[in-house]
Amino acid sequence: MNVLEVKEIKKSFGSKKVLDGVSFSVPENCVFGFIGRNGAGKTTTMRAVLGLLETDGGEIEVCGERVSYGKTPKSGYIGYLPDVPEFYGYMNAREYLTLCGEITGMSRNDLKNRCGELLELVGLDKEKHRIKGYSRGMKQRLGIAQALINRPKLLICDEPTSALDPVGRKDILDIISAAKEQTSVVFSTHILSDVERICGRVAFLEGGRTVFSGSIEEIHERQTDTGLELTLKRTEDAERVLEAFSDMENSGGRLIFKKASDKKAAELMAFLAAQQIPVMRLERHEADLEDMFMEVVGK
Ligand SMILES: Nc1ncnc2c1ncn2[C@@H]1O[C@H](COP(=O)(O)OP(=O)(O)O)[C@@H](O)[C@H]1O
Ligand SMILES: [Mg+2]
Repeated sequence: MNVLEVKEIKKSFGSKKVLDGVSFSVPENCVFGFIGRNGAGKTTTMRAVLGLLETDGGEIEVCGERVSYGKTPKSGYIGYLPDVPEFYGYMNAREYLTLCGEITGMSRNDLKNRCGELLELVGLDKEKHRIKGYSRGMKQRLGIAQALINRPKLLICDEPTSALDPVGRKDILDIISAAKEQTSVVFSTHILSDVERICGRVAFLEGGRTVFSGSIEEIHERQTDTGLELTLKRTEDAERVLEAFSDMENSGGRLIFKKASDKKAAELMAFLAAQQIPVMRLERHEADLEDMFMEVVGK
């Protein structure tokens, strides 16, 4: 069963259409990247999933249960890390987590173990200071622990890495990857390299619509025309190759197609063989998510 199903949701603010058919689904134990540029509607979508925002149409189901506005899905299904989490600064991490667990009605014993487990997961188990002295990264990590306290089936993180430096970002990505053992994670971002590192599935949000949703492998399959780079044994042969392939460029002795179909690659190999031009290296570039995003978004 899918942990989250979002079907054709729509939302306008006044005359401004922000969501115009957003659909995606998230299976169990999956890290899902919800990708879109600033202002694309990521936070709006997440608020709708949490039942915090009234949509103009469409359906949302969390663990098979329909979400409706004002009626947050059954407690325990969803954990949420907002884009700017707020804490009681005078508490330390353990005190704060304990408070959150008490509010959700966890038993004292369970809570004690769970706090220990989560503080270790997010690397704050040795931290005794008050939250008000925390860095942004530490606050995000504590926010993830808080969102996981009552073992949700789905963890929603709104741009958890966007305000962090590379080390802080890596910490968060490692924690999210580890959290996959216990829950599915949806995280929104505009940083494609973060998605590439940890996500199994993605959705691209553009112009208020999900223009693609599926697995990373499916994107790789779609993306067939990628860069192709040729290094010749003798530099003097370059001219002949460039004459035959006008869309090839010479970049410091390497001959490059920015984008080449499989057919074009085969033509190049046939030409090299027929002309008996010795080759050092012929390499196909793997498309990165950025290329794919541009292709899917059509720009
Ligand atoms: N409560 C609101 N009232 C009016 N406009 C809003 C409101 N919330 C969001 N928007 C607008 O909707 C668009 C999408 O916002 P948001 O979902 O926050 O984007 P993202 O999280 O992808 O950066 C933006 O243009 C934003 O200004
Ligand atoms: Mg946002």
